[in-house]
Amino acid sequence: MAKIIVTGGLGFIGSHTVVELQNAGHDVLVVDDLSNTTIEVFERIKSITNKDFEFYQLDLKKKDDVKSLFAKAGKVDGVIHFAAYKAVGQSVNSPLEYYENNLGSLVYLLQEMRDNKLDNLIFSSSCTVYGQAEDLPITEHSPVQSALSPYGNTKQVGEEIILDAIAAHNFNTISLRYFNPVGAHPSAKIGELPLGVPLNLVPYITQTAVGLREQLSVFGDTYDTHDGTCIRDYIHVVDVAKAHVIAVERLLAKANEDNYEVFNLGSGKGSTVLEVIHAFEKVSGKNLNYKIVERREGDVTAAFADTTKANETLGWKAEKSLDDAVADAWRWEQKIREEV
Ligand code: WQD
Repeated sequence: MAKIIVTGGLGFIGSHTVVELQNAGHDVLVVDDLSNTTIEVFERIKSITNKDFEFYQLDLKKKDDVKSLFAKAGKVDGVIHFAAYKAVGQSVNSPLEYYENNLGSLVYLLQEMRDNKLDNLIFSSSCTVYGQAEDLPITEHSPVQSALSPYGNTKQVGEEIILDAIAAHNFNTISLRYFNPVGAHPSAKIGELPLGVPLNLVPYITQTAVGLREQLSVFGDTYDTHDGTCIRDYIHVVDVAKAHVIAVERLLAKANEDNYEVFNLGSGKGSTVLEVIHAFEKVSGKNLNYKIVERREGDVTAAFADTTKANETLGWKAEKSLDDAVADAWRWEQKIREEV
């Protein structure tokens, strides 16, 4: 049993990770600024696990808030750092706020971890660091390419900041590079809560199917893929959450082979946009209203993971399928619409 700080722990991946940490018997302390989620998620998590946990609403881009977090936390064994802004398009319009929030909070967090002699960190990174990889599937050795957005750059620079911090102090860090986390908890008590118009494919599909959106726009069908639409590696959010528990337990057990390890978190399977739509129609029994429109700036043609390293080194493998993910996302969408 360990005590883990989860920053951004009321967010999409964070909340699912809190559930899995509690299921594994760990104590959790969540900090979240509620800028991209709601306090209801706190009760929803507890309704799944029937376990309480500490929660503090703090803004980690304020140094004093980070200091007060550690003053309140007491003895802690590790940190899982999700807290960040993550909308690619928004980051293009507001780069300075993205650098201030995503990198400022990381620096303050690392300073407080250093000063409190806490060295176990799991960092939430992203496959966007690979850009359009030359070779597919993408391994952890695929070259990091210049970011296609300020958001993607905050993940790249975040990893570099951590590497420099490790060189000077004795942090032990695992960076998890997510491909496309989708779906929701099978209980339909937590899931993705996009505030405003969803930017990502799966929440846009479910909001269209439930009648909240008129029609899904498919951004281009002239890509060099078997059906002309982009390929991505959609991985169930519960599988992503379970990987975080395995990763933090690896550090707690001092089983890491290096003080900086990187793992791709994907299903290892690429699916096109049309395949996701058809999977949704199959599991929901709904005909989705969509149309093909022009391409979206910055989209890569294809990205999916080689998951060998996570499979062999972490002993982790995605267990849920794309059908499971879109079915759970649909159940969640219908549940929250009932509650509105
Ligand atoms: C997937 C595919 C779109 C919406 C982003 C971030 C990445 C990660 C996951 C945080 C693409 C197409 C989408 C729509 C569409 N987030 N699409 N119509 O861009 O692969 O990754 O989210 O880490 O960092 O970059 O995900 O869901 O936006 O798009 O046709 O309304 O669906 O063109 O091919 P993406 P996405």
